[in-house]
Amino acid sequence: MHNIKDINEARDFIQSKTEHRPVVGLILGSGLGSLADDIQDAVHIPYTEIPHFAKSGAIGHANELVIGELNGKTVAAMKGRFHYYEGFTLDEVTFPVRVMKALGIENLLITNACGAVNTDFAPGDLMLITDHINLAGANPLIGPNNDELGTRFQDLSETYSKDLRNTALKVAEGMDMKLQQGVYAWWSGPTYETPAEIRMIRVLGADAVGMSTVPEAIIAKHGGMNVLGISCLTNMACGILDQPLNHYEVLEVAAQVRTKFVQLVKGVLEEM
Ligand code: 6GU
Repeated sequence: MHNIKDINEARDFIQSKTEHRPVVGLILGSGLGSLADDIQDAVHIPYTEIPHFAKSGAIGHANELVIGELNGKTVAAMKGRFHYYEGFTLDEVTFPVRVMKALGIENLLITNACGAVNTDFAPGDLMLITDHINLAGANPLIGPNNDELGTRFQDLSETYSKDLRNTALKVAEGMDMKLQQGVYAWWSGPTYETPAEIRMIRVLGADAVGMSTVPEAIIAKHGGMNVLGISCLTNMACGILDQPLNHYEVLEVAAQVRTKFVQLVKGVLEEM
């Protein structure tokens, strides 16, 4: 499990690289990483340099922590994240969240690209995560509990902060932007679900399905942080339309909603 010495070493290293003291954390999902390019007075720290961060090699392009100013808030943004399906342990996937907390971050905004299970949703919609269903058969808190980091049996009744959700809804309304709300199911991947699995997931009460976010949200909650989750629905899940899924189309739709997504996140930062 995460130990305080490792977390503090990572924190000290990051603080030695910048005078910025971030108060908001951002985890940027597939196709949404370009938001980090708008951060002012930015310091870029590759994950490979940060003590105890997982050794990634091939998880996309950037893989760096970007710290600076964005719409009036000092932020630390993860451009690229660690996924369970890549073979990282959930300790590795969630270590950056522990480090964010140690940096003094209390509000964490987690984003992802995912598939729509609710047939009232359409590709390109943004969805506020109201709750989640963990279908991965794994939990980042399995193992000995470190009581200095959080409690053994964590309550998850409000994993996604009601206050932050209300802020996001207000911001979206002010921009006349449609913002869906729903339950996100975490599927380990790397395969997409089968049509039968999607029917099951819908019956279970999920509105969207993806391969990330839940481990980070659990660890953030364990650490006492407020979490806001925003999903970009890039496609309808398997079996809804009579066509196979394609990762490149997923990335393309994520890129198309970038402007809307960036507006929403910036608006939320201003109102936080
Ligand atoms: Cl349909 N499923 C999962 N697990 N992740 C996705 C997705 C679907 N579409 C985009 N990401």
